[in-house]
Amino acid sequence: MSDRPNIRISGAARRRAAADAALGDRAGKPPARTEGKAFAPANIALCKYWGKRDEELRLPMNSSVSISLGALGTRTRVRLGDGDRYVLNGSPLAPESAEGRRLREYLDLFRGPAAPGFEVDTENTIPTAAGLASSASAFAALAKALDVLFGWGLDLGALSILARLGSGSAARSVAAGFVEWRAGERSDGSDSVAIPWPERWPQLRIGLLVLASGPKSVGSRDAMRHTVETSPLYAAWPETARQDLETLRGAVRTRDFEALGRTAEANAMAMHATMLAARPAVRYWRAETVAALDRVAAARAEGLPVYATLDAGPNVKLLFEAASEMAVAAAFPEARAVAPFGG
Ligand code: PMV
Repeated sequence: MSDRPNIRISGAARRRAAADAALGDRAGKPPARTEGKAFAPANIALCKYWGKRDEELRLPMNSSVSISLGALGTRTRVRLGDGDRYVLNGSPLAPESAEGRRLREYLDLFRGPAAPGFEVDTENTIPTAAGLASSASAFAALAKALDVLFGWGLDLGALSILARLGSGSAARSVAAGFVEWRAGERSDGSDSVAIPWPERWPQLRIGLLVLASGPKSVGSRDAMRHTVETSPLYAAWPETARQDLETLRGAVRTRDFEALGRTAEANAMAMHATMLAARPAVRYWRAETVAALDRVAAARAEGLPVYATLDAGPNVKLLFEAASEMAVAAAFPEARAVAPFGG
């Protein structure tokens, strides 16, 4: 047996190495400006990211694809400072809060002698009660704002790697429209990057149905890990997601709304099925969730082309096209319609 200490590189050190690798010879260079500003849109996955192959680098088991939410997202300004100071939606964010700690640990990846502290002012353009995950747009906006501050001029792939180191789904929020996040194969995550799809679909609409707000019972990170570790149904997930992603790619290329809606809805149900089979079960659905899904099924039975998807929470998102906008508004008067391509 060797008497050398068993050295294990910490998650933070591995993330720093991954950030440095994405930055290349820009790593450690002093900032080009004193301030950087950026916006990143929220995104809704049509084929979900569910399960990590590497917890520390937030590398996914499966590739995923999302649609961005237009002007709904996060606007962030980052300035150089002596120490860190965070403002979220106009109110100071306590550094010792869970969100404050997460932000500080993320900013540690970019700290150096010429950038000892960061003042971050961030605002969500998503209504706070909308029940939409904001970590995706938050970390994508922060990565983009840091790119401006430091003057890195990173390409989309490198930006998506930096955003992913904050939150997995943030990898897809560095661009607008349909964005695929390739799972990649390398252990350092250098090929786990976002690739936007060239297609635009101006008639596509997302309807946000807010059924429950407030903090959720289990965060997505813990729910994911628990599902991978204990759900007997998880084994079927990566292949299900792989097939769904290919069906969605074809649906977007041919503008086949029915195929897009049907596949996105089935993919969300399959993801929740893996959670329900976890031991103990992870169940985000509430009575209101089931009632909304019943209404979607009833509207469809009446001939309205509308489909549903949902993430790690109780709120339902509708998928439909501009031609159905009036009918969807009549059936779901509480839905907020978003045009991802500006209509
Ligand atoms: O927000 P994250 O990176 O912890 O992941 C959430 C994953 C889902 O929202 C459930 C699905 C997805 O692909 O966005």
